[in-house]
Amino acid sequence: MKIAVLPGDGIGPEIVRQATKVLERLRADGLPVEVETASIGGAGYDADGDPLPAKTLDVARAADAIVLGAVGGPRYDTLPRAMRPEQGLLRIRKELGLFTNLRPAMVYEELASASSLKPELVSGLDIMILRELTGDIYFGQPRGRRTNDAGEREGFDTMRYSESEIARIARVGFEIARKRSRRLCSVDKANVLDTSILWREVVTEVGRDFPDVELSHMYVDNAAMQLVRAPKQFDVILTGNMFGDILSDEASMLTGSIGMLPSASLDAQGKGLYEPIHGSAPDIAGRDVANPLATILSLGMMMRYTFDNEEAAARIERAVARVLQDGRRTGDIAGPGATPIGTEAMGDAVVAALADAAHR
Ligand code: NAD
Ligand code: IPM
Ligand code: MN
Repeated sequence: MKIAVLPGDGIGPEIVRQATKVLERLRADGLPVEVETASIGGAGYDADGDPLPAKTLDVARAADAIVLGAVGGPRYDTLPRAMRPEQGLLRIRKELGLFTNLRPAMVYEELASASSLKPELVSGLDIMILRELTGDIYFGQPRGRRTNDAGEREGFDTMRYSESEIARIARVGFEIARKRSRRLCSVDKANVLDTSILWREVVTEVGRDFPDVELSHMYVDNAAMQLVRAPKQFDVILTGNMFGDILSDEASMLTGSIGMLPSASLDAQGKGLYEPIHGSAPDIAGRDVANPLATILSLGMMMRYTFDNEEAAARIERAVARVLQDGRRTGDIAGPGATPIGTEAMGDAVVAALADAAHR
């Protein structure tokens, strides 16, 4: 298991350190884990003048899987776009062809009351958000800035999807729905955007090969509302890059905190980059308060999707469930009355629980 570790910026190094402890524990227990660390984002820019240094891309290509913390920070916000940390992340996704982004939003029973919604609305929630990750307005050309005819500054981006890009993510969506409750909700803005009209058309066409999956369509504004009105109506949500970015942050709060949501970004062969869905949280960086569970749960997804090791995946997930059952909470999920523990202590608690989880 050759794993590239890219800590990145802000809380990235702190949360990735906890994931590394988990990997070390798994190696001590016999998994053939090999780790190589490289810089990305602002850290890449500081070290090599590039948010995705060439040697980092080499390390990532040579690895079977990648774990990433987060990138970005106020220090880098005024750099030209190509040098910004976020471009390092977008480029590695594109270079490695990681078009499938899985963002599961699951509510742990112990955290139902940590959600910003009433516990009965979220209790038992288990949604899979499937976000297309290498197309859409994130990558469409032309884009840029210019001075328009009126002498004003103007910025422009292009929302664009080709038929094949839509069809391949749609197929993944139907396959995933088949393994779950056989319901797929495709989210778009087909009442306004040409891109979305094509999206809906192609998803519907692909759906003909999956007659056993019930396909529905929803406009993204309604979906944003339904997610906080009655989130349990959803099972698999299939959507484009930008809508998926926004809806997954929204869905994270149903689970108690954005610090709980892992993700897997996969290519067509199952190689993957695994990262929490949240960012570098500059407001809490360096204070040992960030929740490392999203990053640790991303390792669980790595074991499942890249290494096809369900046992190791389940072991990591049971260990996380166990520390929550034991009442361990970082500040973001503590709620009133509970005494929060720090990032390092949470990482240690998961490692300790892993020992137990091995024997259940
Ligand atoms: P953010 O996700 O970093 O933070 C939003 C809020 O959630 C903050 O209050 C933060 O403290 C809190 N939060 C996030 N993760 C947490 C955790 N693990 N534990 C506890 N609290 C947590 O989003 P932002 O503030 O909009 O962006 C900050 C920087 O991160 C920006 O530079 C942005 O571009 C970047 N970003 C990177 C990624 C990524 O690397 N995948 C994702 C999103 C944002
Ligand atoms: C995410 C982030 C990234 C995105 C940014 C940092 C480029 O918000 O992973 O959700 O928009 O995809
Ligand atoms: Mn995001």
